[in-house]
Amino acid sequence: MPSKLPETIKSAKALRNDKTKEKKLSKGTENTVKEINNEAIEEILKELNCLVGLQEVKALIHELRSFVEVRNMRIQEGLSNESMALHMIFKGNPGTGKTTVSRIVGRLFKELGVLPKGHVIEVERADLVGEYIGHTAIRAREQVKKALGGVLFIDEAYSLARGGDKDFGKECVDCLVKSVEDFRDNLIVILSGYKDEMDIFLRTNPGIRSRFPIQLEFPDYETKELLEIAEAMVKEREYLLSGEGKLALERYLNEQERIGHPHRGNARLVRNIIEKSIRRHAVRLLSTNNEKKFSRQELIVLERQDIIEGCKQCCEEKEISQ
Ligand SMILES: Nc1ncnc2c1ncn2[C@@H]1O[C@H](COP(=O)(O)OP(=O)(O)OP(=O)(O)O)[C@@H](O)[C@H]1O
Ligand SMILES: [Mg+2]
Repeated sequence: MPSKLPETIKSAKALRNDKTKEKKLSKGTENTVKEINNEAIEEILKELNCLVGLQEVKALIHELRSFVEVRNMRIQEGLSNESMALHMIFKGNPGTGKTTVSRIVGRLFKELGVLPKGHVIEVERADLVGEYIGHTAIRAREQVKKALGGVLFIDEAYSLARGGDKDFGKECVDCLVKSVEDFRDNLIVILSGYKDEMDIFLRTNPGIRSRFPIQLEFPDYETKELLEIAEAMVKEREYLLSGEGKLALERYLNEQERIGHPHRGNARLVRNIIEKSIRRHAVRLLSTNNEKKFSRQELIVLERQDIIEGCKQCCEEKEISQ
């Protein structure tokens, strides 16, 4: 019917447009080489190198950088190139740097031309798994869509296998496997979680294992490393740890190690202690001087007492949450 014709033409055109858009999205940067901003890459790698410890993680990321750069050069020479599977597994306890490193990975791969955007969407089971049949696919696809062009970081990914075959987590795993195929050149998925749980998850999901060839382990930090992290955090906030303050923190961290606290090598714990100590420092200053006149030194230095109280508050919170 003539009156319907324009609409039909429009919808066919819209369909073509949609298809082109979809193609562009899933094609990503395949076989095209973006001009590389070496300065930006060096800046990001400097940030990576400034992280305390994590030698193996750093080495692997440097290796990936070399691989991608040489691959780009080979493409420019018209040589054959391996398709890149850069999906990763991060294994480690809480507070060992997994989220921090995933953000660096996103930005690095953007500068290397692997990802168009390089942003990180951090999700967990509740963001992906639905409550009724068909709901999971919608939820998972929504998160994948948000992450396109960057990194989809799934925390505690092993929990997707919870509940066995009847659980919707399985549907989510299937959806993820499909997404990593469909958006091979436009999305990096990082599955993260405790080492033992992730090992079991991978053993029972061979489809995942074969598609996630890069595995990084994030060991617990040693007390020496945690102290270094604490000093960096304090410096970043323009404070300073007094000698006695540092000793008090060292004693507390050693004690955690001695009692075998499961999250003793945890940099987030250190961050919490520092943030609480900074507040205790403020309370101490105001309570000791009614005139509120302080030297620069006094405003900067975290003393033993501040650290002890910061540790104590963290300890109390830990007990409440146990
Ligand atoms: N190697 C490091 N050097 C300096 N700071 C670090 C390092 N690792 C972690 N941190 C700091 O410790 C805090 C926790 O790190 P992050 O959030 O990356 O841990 P995570 O492994 O993702 O933990 P979770 O599994 O609980 O999410 C952040 O403030 C981060 O900046
Ligand atoms: Mg994290």
